[in-house]
Amino acid sequence: MNHQCDRRSFVKIGAAVGMAWGMGRECFAADTAARPMDKVRVGLVGIGSRGTWLLRILLGLEGVEVRAVCDMIPERAAKAQEMVTVAGQPQPTGYSQGERDFQRLCDSEDLDLVINATRPWKWHVPISVAAMTTGKHAATEVPAAETVEDCWQLVETAETTGKYCVMLENCCYFREVMLVQHMLKKGLFGELRHCEAGYQHYGRRARPASSARPKEDKVRTANSYPTHPIGPVAQWMDVNRGNRFDYLVSMSAAATGDNPNADINTSLIRTARGQTITLYFDTKLPRPYDLIYRVQGTGGICMATSDKIFIEGRSPKPDTWESMEAYYQEFEHPLWKALGEDALRTGGHGGGDWLVMHRLIRALRTGTPPDMDVYDAATWSCITELSEKSVATKSSPIDFPDFTRGRWKTNPPLGILGP
Ligand SMILES: NC(=O)c1ccc[n+]([C@@H]2O[C@H](COP(=O)([O-])OP(=O)(O)OC[C@H]3O[C@@H](n4cnc5c(N)ncnc54)[C@H](O)[C@@H]3O)[C@@H](O)[C@H]2O)c1
Repeated sequence: MNHQCDRRSFVKIGAAVGMAWGMGRECFAADTAARPMDKVRVGLVGIGSRGTWLLRILLGLEGVEVRAVCDMIPERAAKAQEMVTVAGQPQPTGYSQGERDFQRLCDSEDLDLVINATRPWKWHVPISVAAMTTGKHAATEVPAAETVEDCWQLVETAETTGKYCVMLENCCYFREVMLVQHMLKKGLFGELRHCEAGYQHYGRRARPASSARPKEDKVRTANSYPTHPIGPVAQWMDVNRGNRFDYLVSMSAAATGDNPNADINTSLIRTARGQTITLYFDTKLPRPYDLIYRVQGTGGICMATSDKIFIEGRSPKPDTWESMEAYYQEFEHPLWKALGEDALRTGGHGGGDWLVMHRLIRALRTGTPPDMDVYDAATWSCITELSEKSVATKSSPIDFPDFTRGRWKTNPPLGILGP
């Protein structure tokens, strides 16, 4: 299928947004800054454990009005309404008339942003699309989409509507992740050559990939939860901003028990700049939690979650790891210097949960583009289907779609984020 901004996709989306876009409208990159706003009027869909936590964070942020809440389970919507009123805001409208009631929310509410923290994941794309086609920005919990086709749908909808579609990848704001980003910008590692990361969390997400794909007669094995490890790596490597993921090969270990997903999936990714990434999905075997975040450059290496670093010419002893403590003192990311206390006070994944929400709300209030865009959401999420295809074909190389349609070559790098 041709994913240029063609008449087909335009007409499809145009039908939903009415005539506002005009039939001759051209495609544009979905990173155009929106107008600033004093208050961000939010609708929240999916108020389970994650949604409840995000709501708590939202209610503590300046400039946020929670106007609508939605969950298929009426008690959850009611509980969210109560949380909002207890926080001193007017009672938001509750929506809980079934699994498609988010559409009514999007159709009838005057909102700036719809945040979606639903599970199962099959709802993420329909909710984001409903938000954007009714004139709201969309923010979605991870993963943004489960298939390449759905990733394209997000990209095309964001481009055609001019709305943001941000995946709430909280790991990009971890303290060690941002420290590494800052050190990379300062050139401490030299030229970046290789990263290793993985979702290695025993007992978590150990479910088959693609359960939402009814046409497939067999569940295949894959990396079914790639965004937490790959998001930070993609930002370190300037992916979609001067670099891109080129292709992937993937291999799965045998499966034990009655869960057909592999015990461990390992994928290798190569970038246009010739860097490599080892990416793990490892949730079935007993082990401590570890995202790894290994960074190897021409000048040194760190294993960020293990607090180990070696920088040639700087580390005191040759061939010997040192702790990263002194590097935190000297190279702490400016965002963490300014907001680390606030982030840690609220907690949640070491402050990453608060920062991801703070940064999105700040972007909307100041009229600046969010740190992560729809191209990031698509590029990071599509790994599940690509790895599945590679595993199913004896680890054959699978090309990444270029969701930016060539704009990765000229998009400016992310830069160091300020508070
Ligand atoms: N970023 C992170 O660190 C992180 C951590 C945990 C979960 N998550 C993500 O957050 C999402 C939610 O996870 P959770 O653990 O809160 O799940 P959960 O099962 O506790 O909650 C999901 C909620 O969504 C509701 N829901 C499902 N479909 C709906 C629909 N069509 N309309 C309205 N409500 C609907 C359910 O009733 C439920 O209340 C998932 O995408 C998960 O991957 C992210």
